Amino acid sequence: MAKQSLTITDNRTSKQYEIPIEEGGVIRAAALRDIKLNPNDFGLMSYDPAFINTASCKSRITFIDGDRGILRYRGYAIEDLAEKSSYLETAYLIVKGELPNLKHFKTWEHNIKVHTMVHENIKKFMEGFRYDAHPMGMLVGTVGAMSTFYPDAKNIEDLESRRLQTRRLIGKIPTIAAYAYRHTRGLPYVYPDNELSYTGNFLSMLFKMTELKYEPDPILERALDVLFILHADHEQNCSANAMRAIGSSKVDPYSATAGAIAALFGPLHGGANEDVVRMLMEIGSVEKVPAAVKSFKEGNSRRLMGFGHRVYKNYDPRARFGKKLASEVFKVTGENPLIKVALELERIALEDDYFVARKLYPNVDFYTGLIYQAMGFPMTMFPVLFAIARTSGWLAQWAEMVRDPEQKIARPRQIFIGSAPRDYIKMDHRPEPESREERVSDSI
Ligand code: ACO
Repeated sequence: MAKQSLTITDNRTSKQYEIPIEEGGVIRAAALRDIKLNPNDFGLMSYDPAFINTASCKSRITFIDGDRGILRYRGYAIEDLAEKSSYLETAYLIVKGELPNLKHFKTWEHNIKVHTMVHENIKKFMEGFRYDAHPMGMLVGTVGAMSTFYPDAKNIEDLESRRLQTRRLIGKIPTIAAYAYRHTRGLPYVYPDNELSYTGNFLSMLFKMTELKYEPDPILERALDVLFILHADHEQNCSANAMRAIGSSKVDPYSATAGAIAALFGPLHGGANEDVVRMLMEIGSVEKVPAAVKSFKEGNSRRLMGFGHRVYKNYDPRARFGKKLASEVFKVTGENPLIKVALELERIALEDDYFVARKLYPNVDFYTGLIYQAMGFPMTMFPVLFAIARTSGWLAQWAEMVRDPEQKIARPRQIFIGSAPRDYIKMDHRPEPESREERVSDSI
């Protein structure tokens, strides 16, 4: 077998270095530090804004092969889980690494359900948000505030504490999300009903009115559960990276999760399905689709939202389920009229040379917004639903990071391109700048 190493010649010194190739195709960036001009030199480092080609961890949780459109949690195909599993079972798999047997699942379900209620002060805390507060903003603030309710969570090296906080967070996040929604509507908060399923209870906390017991529609309950499965983890994306980076300072998991939710709040991450719906509303009718596709290609206005992915260069496997679920949900809710525009967009784009050449396929967000809209969710709730599902993934990523002996506090390097050393001049001795650029060289 060929030697698993890389030989580098430094043309500045003509010295040669041998760097091991690990895991079938990985070099350690730290190995570059040995390549020096002289013993006092810092050595080489790699420059990789946005981590385009840098692995920050070794992980056993989620596998993605973007070229072939494969997504697996702990080795199980997303298609299998979406068809046969429930969100709570998938959350167990993601957090613990194996599928549970019946006894373990019952215990897990019980242990999550005993945590669905939140402290009354959390309820009061949420009442303090403005009537028009964005539910994602409320989620960030409230999950962050949970660290003050559970100070024991700071014991992150303690396995039992990690398990407890994990169960608490998975149990409470739907309650906080539902309270945020009810707050925006001016409706009284609904307490959890643990006789219902995890997702059924969430629907009850959202939509229960005066009826004594809320009975979720089984098709909508299952559809939302499947959508939760599809969003449960996606390896090292922006919010998982935030969870790990914040958690690497050894802060409690509530603070780290609040940071991960904040990362998800951004339009480039959790907000794309909202943009899809807005785009479909703007296009408005099937007849206008060809002209819209033309404008996406010309790059005059916006991109075709819900198409393309940094990792998937094939049909996002989650998008297939989105499409299927949409038709099931519409049987109950009535058809979302925008689906016709979406289907025509997909049909034309998948036949168009521009999209084919760039391997642009529908991503998970292309259909989910339409489903959520048909189920009665306002667009501001779309990323909140994502956050509920992703909580199990974030916690699994966090626990893996905490246990990994190779991890340290996340601390990237920089390439300093600022001023050379200069002397401090007293304010009244400073010359008048000639231009605005001279006055503020780095404007925020
Ligand atoms: N519509 C039109 N053209 C596109 C699109 C699109 N949706 N996506 C990419 N392209 C084009 C780019 O203009 C570029 O063309 P060029 O080579 O002629 O310059 C080429 O395809 C490659 O695009 P990049 O921006 O380099 O691809 P990248 O991997 O950085 O971007 C991204 C991925 C951000 C998802 C992009 O495809 C996009 O903006 N899509 C629309 C937004 C969206 O749906 N986001 C949700 C992603 S899924 C999620 O976050 C859960």
